[in-house]
Amino acid sequence: MSDNLDLQRMLYNVSALVDLGQEVTSARGYAERMKMALHVISGMFSIPNAALFVHDPKRQELALLTAKGFTHLGDARLVLPDTETAQLPRNEPLTDGLLQRTGLFAKNANLFTRLNVATAVPLFTKQEFIGVILLGPRLSGNRLQKTERDVLIVAAHQIATAIHNARIFEQYAAQVAENRSLYENMRQIYHDTIQAFATAIDAKDQYTKHHSFRVAYYAAAIARELQWKESDVEAIYVAGLLHDIGKLSLDVDLINKGDGLTPMEQEKIRRHASVSSDIVARIRLPWQEVPRYIRHHHERPDGKGYPDSLHARDLSEGGKILSIADSYDAMTSDRPYRPRLTVKEALSEIRRCTGTQFDGKISSVFSRMIEQGQPLKPLHPWGGGKKSGESTLPHVIDIPWRTNA
Ligand SMILES: [Fe+2]
Repeated sequence: MSDNLDLQRMLYNVSALVDLGQEVTSARGYAERMKMALHVISGMFSIPNAALFVHDPKRQELALLTAKGFTHLGDARLVLPDTETAQLPRNEPLTDGLLQRTGLFAKNANLFTRLNVATAVPLFTKQEFIGVILLGPRLSGNRLQKTERDVLIVAAHQIATAIHNARIFEQYAAQVAENRSLYENMRQIYHDTIQAFATAIDAKDQYTKHHSFRVAYYAAAIARELQWKESDVEAIYVAGLLHDIGKLSLDVDLINKGDGLTPMEQEKIRRHASVSSDIVARIRLPWQEVPRYIRHHHERPDGKGYPDSLHARDLSEGGKILSIADSYDAMTSDRPYRPRLTVKEALSEIRRCTGTQFDGKISSVFSRMIEQGQPLKPLHPWGGGKKSGESTLPHVIDIPWRTNA
């Protein structure tokens, strides 16, 4: 009969420990998990009042994490100097005289007496002191038996390990958040700097105000339509902003001369594609393909472009996108020697030159987007210092297919 009772008790304890294991590893939040764990312990030993305090090494005290049954705990804290933690037994329940001889009791005698604490279980992992569980008297008034104390030791180990893991996770998450914030700051600085460059480039050409911003805008829209991944869309946007940076080295009069360029002047202007690419290659941007896209922005599938006279198979998709975005914006902007084309005329010109000057796939995607007046998704989420959802480049909202159609 007695053996049978022991077996039943053992089964009950094992099952309660399994419950506890599930609670401390469940997907709930850390504090909620510990609350449920405390409830399991309370149920296991028929102890109505229980509280869990966690160690705060910086303040040399223990803060209340969760409690059951105890009232008026508020944000109770237990005082415990580091010298005292070393004296505590590791995960062993302390009761009666043993408890009263600890520094933990001595430093917090008032609170322990007021709460009528019967048992305190110091929580330790291998490496550190984690906290303490305070338990009130059992409903039966009985003391904990040897086997029950053993079960409580195992439960204390589980809770200590769960709290330790949660802390490591919190530290790791904080580190990740800090790294992310540093990365975002750096990224913002990149974009602010790049936009400042683009403004300087555009300022050189009085007829193509904001040209680089619009090219970036169209190019990013095409890349999104082609399902490029977000970091690559960002790369083509940056390439659009910087594609003409080499023009900064050219004379303003030459840039604004328009028609009637001498062959030497033409050659000078043509050099800007490779100069732009070389300048950008010297900046260690996070987007490695940007210099290549820029170098290709005046290349053509038929091999008649510059600077390398590449054929379609050797051209980067980014270069093909920039070429159409750049040409479309040039066509739909006023020039000293001609007024701007309408959207219809520009698209017709793009179609006429598809296969020779422009890539077939990019051309049809872009034409479809313009014809459908497709609203562009947020195109420059990387702009500087504005509230979310607010355009950082208000002028590009005035896009040609809305105003010229
Ligand atoms: Fe260019």
